[in-house]
Amino acid sequence: MRQFNSILITGGCGFIGSNFIRYLLEESDFTGHIVNVDSLTYAGNPESLADIADQYRERYQFEKADICDIKRIDQIFDQYQIDCVIHFAAESHVDRSIFGPKDFVQTNVIGSFNLLEIARKHWGVRLSPIKEDLLFHHISTDEVFGSLDETGYFYEDTVYDPRSPYSASKAASDHLVNAYFHTYSVPITISNCSNNYGPYQFPEKLIPLMILNMLEGKPLPIYGDGKNVRDWLYVGDHCRGIWRIVRQGKIGETYNIGGNNEQRNIDLINRLCEKIARATGKHPDELKKLIAYVPDRLGHDRRYAVNCDKIKSELGWEPAVDFDRGLDMTVAWYLSHQEWIDQIRSGGYQKWIETNYDAKSSN
Ligand SMILES: NC(=O)c1ccc[n+]([C@@H]2O[C@H](COP(=O)([O-])OP(=O)(O)OC[C@H]3O[C@@H](n4cnc5c(N)ncnc54)[C@H](O)[C@@H]3O)[C@@H](O)[C@H]2O)c1
Repeated sequence: MRQFNSILITGGCGFIGSNFIRYLLEESDFTGHIVNVDSLTYAGNPESLADIADQYRERYQFEKADICDIKRIDQIFDQYQIDCVIHFAAESHVDRSIFGPKDFVQTNVIGSFNLLEIARKHWGVRLSPIKEDLLFHHISTDEVFGSLDETGYFYEDTVYDPRSPYSASKAASDHLVNAYFHTYSVPITISNCSNNYGPYQFPEKLIPLMILNMLEGKPLPIYGDGKNVRDWLYVGDHCRGIWRIVRQGKIGETYNIGGNNEQRNIDLINRLCEKIARATGKHPDELKKLIAYVPDRLGHDRRYAVNCDKIKSELGWEPAVDFDRGLDMTVAWYLSHQEWIDQIRSGGYQKWIETNYDAKSSN
């Protein structure tokens, strides 16, 4: 099993990254140091890790930096003697990519390229033969594989067929990561995961958006006929899977991660209506009346479904949280974190960033 001393996590103030840092420090066997590099876009909220930053001062460092700033990343690599990169940072919302693809190319492609270049530069002298004590793990998505009809699954060797600027930019970064392995022997692994849900997810994404709109009595917008299918995975299960790959995955390989949990959007929303009704004492029909069908997303992929036999058989990982329990935990989390939600909704956390980081960095 690989051991690391100093892990660079990019995008650690986002949804999955913050859950992963929490997992690494509170639940995993990792005993080393973490540097979280995040540029704090609208999706990055350092408040999600405020307690962690406090509790793990010795082992956790936050650096507000853009992965497109190659000089700064170079300096961080040097300063912390990084021996593992776990790369989450990305522009991640498909709808935003349709209306503004440039940022997606910038961060997801150029930013990933910069990180690979820095890893190659710092680790270059140790590449032949490939060392097991260095790793660049890239977090990717099942969306790179395109769209499925009623049947079939995405496998690790399914041909890439991205349809949105988001998935195209992720596909490009996957290709670069693979290229750096084959060309320069940078030790890499990649995971392609299905849709995540759970605590700390920005409320532009389906599940938190629906929960909050239900609580506020707002419309529940649903694209097209509502029958698009996604495979949902609890974020904690994703974090365990990533760590399993980082510790034991075969260098140069890709692993699919999924929930084996296909849900039509409309069924998911109806289920959430039942849960929120139970939690708030409202009648489910009152919430279901809020469902509003809206014109379909451009190029909307119909169905995603991930085959995870490889990570199950090679690394012994499988999802532990079933969908019903995962949704209950997620609903309970949003109901008990009103302050976090208010900050997001008011943009308050951005003001917090200005006070705590921008002011300091301009000194
Ligand atoms: N959310 C999902 O369901 C899902 C599923 C599969 C894969 N993924 C992938 O997992 C990763 C994390 O997704 P997420 O949902 O947590 O995203 P997110 O949008 O919640 O978080 C992204 C984080 O990256 C940071 N960031 C963005 N641009 C940056 C830059 N140029 N430099 C430094 N930091 C930057 C943001 O500030 C934010 O904290 C992404 O790579 C995404 O493609 C997500």
